[in-house]
Amino acid sequence: MKSRPLPADDLIDLAVLVAEARAEYPHLRTLPVQLPDGRRAWLKVPQPASVNCWHWLQTWLARLCDNPFLLPTVAVQAGESLKGEARRIRKLAKLGFPVPRIIAEGADWLLLLDSGSPATTVLRDQSHSRNHRVIQLQSISTLLAKMHQCGCWHGRPALKDVLCNEAEVTLCDFEEDVGANLTPLQCQVRDALIYGHSLFRVFHRTDPEMALQGLNAYWQAAPPSVKNATTDKVQSMDALLSVDVFLGRYLGGDALAIFSSMRHFYTLSPSVVV
Ligand SMILES: Nc1ncnc2c1ncn2[C@@H]1O[C@H](COP(=O)(O)OP(=O)(O)O)[C@@H](O)[C@H]1O
Ligand SMILES: [Mg+2]
Repeated sequence: MKSRPLPADDLIDLAVLVAEARAEYPHLRTLPVQLPDGRRAWLKVPQPASVNCWHWLQTWLARLCDNPFLLPTVAVQAGESLKGEARRIRKLAKLGFPVPRIIAEGADWLLLLDSGSPATTVLRDQSHSRNHRVIQLQSISTLLAKMHQCGCWHGRPALKDVLCNEAEVTLCDFEEDVGANLTPLQCQVRDALIYGHSLFRVFHRTDPEMALQGLNAYWQAAPPSVKNATTDKVQSMDALLSVDVFLGRYLGGDALAIFSSMRHFYTLSPSVVV
């Protein structure tokens, strides 16, 4: 996982390659590039971000409800968020977690080695047996639980930010610095809720059983502290649980997935409080 420093000549080649890719796709913030040696890589560049009225509203609501989960995680200084991402990748790699290898980085770009296809594609690929896909999903779930067991978190573990190839599962997209506003336990609870939501978002129409199996596999391996805190969080929102029964037909896939995942979290037993 450790990346060797590149020779100066290679770095110059890469800087040229990066400049060309940026000029070709000025509107993209993550773009695929081909390295001189033929390998595939992904270039991340900052996009200007600004705090808009929704972010102010989120901040205001978070204060009003005393709920830090509502605080916006938008990084106003986009360059800083890429530096933060590189820092988090290095930290997780040091701890032995599967993250993309950093090939090189500049003042405002980050070049990562390709680590596979998004789990959203792989887990729905009918050319692989369902059993194979369930096993892959279970390894993603236990990887997230393992991060939590080690006191770490992902930040936004949606299935599209998990990459799969034949050999392994890799986590990507660490731009959001959720640890800036939340305690480690809150970050892990947020991870659990986002992961549950993503499972139902991806599978609730086509294969809801996959969503249940994915969440159950996470739950079996997650630390008791995170399970208890997640259960508390879900129970604190139980007044909202039947909203979709009345408003379901007006809600989109994202909102429906929130309710489906909350309902399933609700049925999972918390662990024994110690
Ligand atoms: N190292 C990588 N290997 C393979 N695919 C990647 C890699 N990095 C990014 N991608 C692809 O690009 C998408 C966007 O990258 P991501 O890091 O999530 O940035 P963002 O969502 O902020 O644009 C990912 O969902 C994935 O499909
Ligand atoms: Mg992403």
